[in-house]
Amino acid sequence: MHLHKYEKIWLTFGLGSLALFLVIIGFAAFWKGTHPMSHIETIDPQNVEAHESFKPENLGLREVAEGKYTVNIVASAFNYDIGTDADGKPVKKIRVPKGSTVLFQITTKDVVHGFQVAGTNVNMMVEPGHVSRLETVMKNAGEFTVVCNEYCGIGHHQMFATVEVYE
Ligand code: CUA
Repeated sequence: MHLHKYEKIWLTFGLGSLALFLVIIGFAAFWKGTHPMSHIETIDPQNVEAHESFKPENLGLREVAEGKYTVNIVASAFNYDIGTDADGKPVKKIRVPKGSTVLFQITTKDVVHGFQVAGTNVNMMVEPGHVSRLETVMKNAGEFTVVCNEYCGIGHHQMFATVEVYE
């Protein structure tokens, strides 16, 4: 079969870019640990409190085993509800020791929000009717800002929190 020179160039370019993108996806997934928050769990966005993890008293950080934590969060415009502290004030900062395994579970009551812990591999889309879940190991110490990275309305920029990983 005879292939025209330009056709060969074009085929090489097409196959080359396919291979390149597969390598990039493989690098992100297996090396950087970036995964979609895959699960098939649905929830009634009008009644998130009916779900055990999202009852007001179960929100926030919880140590479930030695070095293992769960963080339950309800997002809404324009706030992350991470529970309240001993004084009844809303929690805005989560503190975990370095090297701990943290499972983030988050849902939204209204519109689509984002949940990105900048500087880590935690980056989830939070859709009404779904529970977004991602487990990660906090390898590096420091303060990480949690941002909403899906435009959700006029107060979008006010949606933030902090994760502190201490030594
Ligand atoms: Cu919530 Cu942007």
